Amino acid sequence: MKRLLVTGGAGFIGSNFIRYMLKKHPDLHIVNLDALTYAGNRENLRDLDGNPRYTFWHGDICDPDTVERWMSNVDAVVNFAAETHVDRSIHEAGAFVETDVHGAFVLLEAAREHNISRFLHISTDEVYGSIDEGSFTEKDILNPSSPYSASKSGGELLARSYFITYGLPVLITRSSNNFGPYQYPEKLIPLFITNAIDDKPLPIYGDGKNVRDWLYVEDQAEALDLVLQKGTAGEIYNIGAGNEEMNITVTKSILKLLGKPESLIHPVKDRLGHDRRYSVTIDKIQALGWKPLHDFEEGMKKTVEWYVKNESWWRALKEKQAAYQEWYKKQYG
Ligand code: NAD
Ligand code: DAU
Repeated sequence: MKRLLVTGGAGFIGSNFIRYMLKKHPDLHIVNLDALTYAGNRENLRDLDGNPRYTFWHGDICDPDTVERWMSNVDAVVNFAAETHVDRSIHEAGAFVETDVHGAFVLLEAAREHNISRFLHISTDEVYGSIDEGSFTEKDILNPSSPYSASKSGGELLARSYFITYGLPVLITRSSNNFGPYQYPEKLIPLFITNAIDDKPLPIYGDGKNVRDWLYVEDQAEALDLVLQKGTAGEIYNIGAGNEEMNITVTKSILKLLGKPESLIHPVKDRLGHDRRYSVTIDKIQALGWKPLHDFEEGMKKTVEWYVKNESWWRALKEKQAAYQEWYKKQYG
């Protein structure tokens, strides 16, 4: 593999992945196709400006002409491009169906035309829905709860059908919650870090006991590289960290790292359709030779330090979100 098309590479995981891949593979050229929605940000990869092995293209994966132009130029694809925030999907689901399902379709069609050698489709552990005890394996059924996870389920089912029907070498990952540098400050960890820095309330949904498995984003990048290189076409790989924490525990750890009082914790009403717990088995990806290298405490420390040092990055984004903030305020008080 010499030329890789990454879609949605100006977002959180995509930008961390591109930086990781260019460092790890000195002969690799990456084209980053990104629509620069509210979540896409060229600042995330500013350090790559002028790098001859990196090309940025501002475009939409739902546009067949744009996709065709770049698909004919690469031999593998990693599709991160998506609408990704569950609360936004509760507010307004249209863009989720458009990008996460129809966008995936446009990419798959073009990949099939151009005999792409690997098509890594990034899905999520949310497609399984919630599990009170035990962990989902890749063979479990999909039972999504939100318009976000339902759209992601649609996209990945379509991707798998292109393997079964046309033999397109599709690989699918279903990862747990990522955290780390460059995550948009609407998701739990960056929202709470940045609110706490400003002594603003931390709006925790419901009883705060919902559980997520937190994976540091560099570990995710390594896992995706491995699946791209060594995964078996047509297979699905769960990715999880074994860092299952209740939201209230995550919140207290942020406050402790920043030296802020727990009085900032502000319980609000619950998210609609709020999944209680996510948990996946990771035997399959471990068998490829992967294990997460960051434990939760170390990842949190690095993440909090990054947001403290990069205030200008996140302040610009927080100011940009007025319309969504208005809905969020009305929803959660
Ligand atoms: P993000 O919201 O930070 O970034 C999404 C990127 O996709 C942005 O750069 C945006 O501009 C781009 N994009 C959106 N619509 C597009 C379109 N139509 N055409 C081209 N680009 C478009 O997302 P993220 O958190 O980095 O997630 C990346 C992928 O990983 C998503 O597919 C998401 O479902 C999946 N995922 C995320 C997590 C997580 O915890 N963040 C966990 C599991 C899976
Ligand atoms: O599990 C993987 C998924 O993780 C990804 O597929 C999604 O793209 C990503 O957004 C994330 O979804 P979550 O809904 O789990 O992440 P979020 O950061 O929105 O919320 C994490 C938990 O924190 C969840 O239980 C809801 C809660 N929460 C979130 C926000 C934004 C709060 O209590 N208060 C908040 O203000």
